[in-house]
Amino acid sequence: NSKGWDLACTSHLEEIDAARAPYRETIFEVAPLLAGDVSGGEPMERFNPADPDSLVARVQTASPEDVETALSKAKPWDASPAERAEILNRAADLYEENFGQVFAILAREAGKTQMDAVAELREAVDFLRYYAAQIEYLDAPALGTFTCISPWNFPMAIFTGQVAAGLAAGNAVLAKPAEQTPVIAHFATTLMHEAGVPRTALQLLPGGGDVGAAVTSDARIKGVAFTGSTATARKIKQAMAEHCDPGAPLIAETGGLNAMIVDSTALPEQAIRDILQSSFQSAGQRCSALRCLYVQEDVSKEFLAMLKGAMDVFRLDDPWQIKADSGPLIDQAAYDQISDYVEKARKEGRLIHQTASPDKGHFLSPTLIRVNGIEDMEREVFGPVLHVATFKSKNIDKVIDAINSTGYGLTFGLHTRIDDRVQHVTDRIEAGNMYVNRNQIGAIVGSQPFGGEGLSGTGPKAGGPFYLPRFAEAKTPDVPE
Ligand code: SER
Repeated sequence: NSKGWDLACTSHLEEIDAARAPYRETIFEVAPLLAGDVSGGEPMERFNPADPDSLVARVQTASPEDVETALSKAKPWDASPAERAEILNRAADLYEENFGQVFAILAREAGKTQMDAVAELREAVDFLRYYAAQIEYLDAPALGTFTCISPWNFPMAIFTGQVAAGLAAGNAVLAKPAEQTPVIAHFATTLMHEAGVPRTALQLLPGGGDVGAAVTSDARIKGVAFTGSTATARKIKQAMAEHCDPGAPLIAETGGLNAMIVDSTALPEQAIRDILQSSFQSAGQRCSALRCLYVQEDVSKEFLAMLKGAMDVFRLDDPWQIKADSGPLIDQAAYDQISDYVEKARKEGRLIHQTASPDKGHFLSPTLIRVNGIEDMEREVFGPVLHVATFKSKNIDKVIDAINSTGYGLTFGLHTRIDDRVQHVTDRIEAGNMYVNRNQIGAIVGSQPFGGEGLSGTGPKAGGPFYLPRFAEAKTPDVPE
């Protein structure tokens, strides 16, 4: 895995500050990157979510003609497996060498704190190197042209993971990044081209839902990788059913209603640190984030008092500031939607705690809301809002049943010092990634393959050994003579 940067080390911090400073005020220019001429669609502007008056980029979105150019020029990457691996590894090196620009874009476009930006760049680099290393085990032909639709919350890591897998398997990739975060996707694509990925194998189509719809409803598309909401995954599946070959795969990673159980044997300081990270770091804008905490009734009063105290010193700030624990929500629409949700809970008398937040920008303070159980949650709230319930030890199986019956199954956390309980819960919980006595975010490529079940996604898990084969034809390995 990528070595990354140590934010506790002064020389690393100085290095980061110097490398990102030239991009503090840059207004980036983004346009489709095609293997033919660009016509350009609706122009768009992007603003800093921590300072919404500050322009970050002017974006030329892809027009319907650009989508047609991309589809007609796309050509599977015919370089040898060894050459593809070498070029993807070179792209990983270029990502690391350009860390200053990457960190500046991630802070200004996506509201990523320095800690999140380091993790994001490391994960992107890990995906490139991991799938490059897997190529030698993939003795199977490419599928053809693959569409990759990535989310704004991991605008570099998930963007790169999908694209790198598509390319590693030898496909042509059409990448449609989230409308909110085209700048980092554009920069990542230019680095992959610079490393040697041909333009016919990788084209970038910035834009909104219309571009996404166009690149998922065409018979020339032989597969789609998508990360985003469960509702959008359903729409893509319907479009593919109508327009694409019956065998074209949809690899979707969607939402979650992620829970954690903390029993009375847990170490409170450790559990509280892990809850803060899981719920409020990245402003809760992770599909893996903790949404519903179950605390054992016997310790809940003291535990909640400690949690509130810890929330009060959790620092919301401009993500460019190194001391920020978390940054803003991605945009005004997200802010309005989640504030309305919190307001409703306040009116219903269910608000337990909410801290202060900066006046400017789309900052929403970490918030605790009381629920009877996860069944009270109607939907995933994609922000720093933690729902809290209590449980009696004898009822732990009922809690597990309630968590399983949401239909989602992405991440799950358990804090306990009872070994038998770890085994019992592990055997019964239905979740893609389960974490014991630690936080439940930030899966590591290679050692913690990431992805859910049920409403949370189709699998296979990203950063695991079964991911790449889904981007290729199924083929029986040659039998040695
Ligand atoms: N992979 C991320 C995490 O584990 C979520 O997409 O937090």
